[in-house]
Amino acid sequence: MSEYNQDKLIQDVVKAFSGTPDARLRELMTALVKHVHAFAREVDLRPEEWQAGLKFLTATGQISTDTRPEFVLLSDTLGLSMMVVALQQARASGTPQGALPPTEATVEGPFYWAGAPDLELGADIAEGVPGEPALYMGRVTDLDGKPLAGALLDIWSGDGDGLYDVQLSDEPTMKARGRFRTDNEGRYWFWSIRPTFYPVPFDGPVGEMMRACGRNINRPGHIHMQVSAPGHVKLTTHIFVAGSPYIDEDAVFGKRDSLVVDFEAHPPGRAVDGREMETPYHSASFDFRLVPEPA
Ligand SMILES: [Fe+2]
Repeated sequence: MSEYNQDKLIQDVVKAFSGTPDARLRELMTALVKHVHAFAREVDLRPEEWQAGLKFLTATGQISTDTRPEFVLLSDTLGLSMMVVALQQARASGTPQGALPPTEATVEGPFYWAGAPDLELGADIAEGVPGEPALYMGRVTDLDGKPLAGALLDIWSGDGDGLYDVQLSDEPTMKARGRFRTDNEGRYWFWSIRPTFYPVPFDGPVGEMMRACGRNINRPGHIHMQVSAPGHVKLTTHIFVAGSPYIDEDAVFGKRDSLVVDFEAHPPGRAVDGREMETPYHSASFDFRLVPEPA
């Protein structure tokens, strides 16, 4: 096909979408077509490469389940998830003059599971889970530093071996997950384990892609949370463990410096929340600042 006909082809495809009633869908599809065609032309895409790509996407779909969302992993490892997070946070920023910067968001990842148990402040979400105990504490505030009472923290974590509950069996039960509400001073505290680095699931097509490209497959140690309060934009983020292996080469590009926290080591004894610890433990302090919802 001549250069001219290649251009005509793209124009024809774009035109075929021009009648899309929903303006945003029209914009998305038109831009997608243009970029996909531009990609094919830039790399001079061969039929066997195109076939391999389709086979890869098919395999990505075939391995996917509710607890193994391979397309999320694909999006994460291509950095697209993080780009969407960054765009969303930029859209929602508009931080008022003099206000504190909001807590940065990062990827949700593939392991969120709605419906974690509601627990009392100070509870341990990691009962029976391998790993070194850690006390998490801090406050949830608005951008003026005013405490948000009753803010909800929905927490999920891998265990000390780097595995999430959903990876432990085909019919998993919830582990290392819990929901907490801040007290009247916006404070939260709970126990879990100090998370360790872990590889993203690498036994599927995304893992194959990562190996073929010589990519690091590991994420640095982190614990996940969604933090929400009435009148504020829900925040999906992590706390990262300072000094964790892979802290500067997160396989999904989710690490942000402002989310890296020193985990203080403590000998056995009475923790600040009154819990008597018979083993050494860690503590991590982190305050979350939420953005007000647009008026
Ligand atoms: Fe994670």
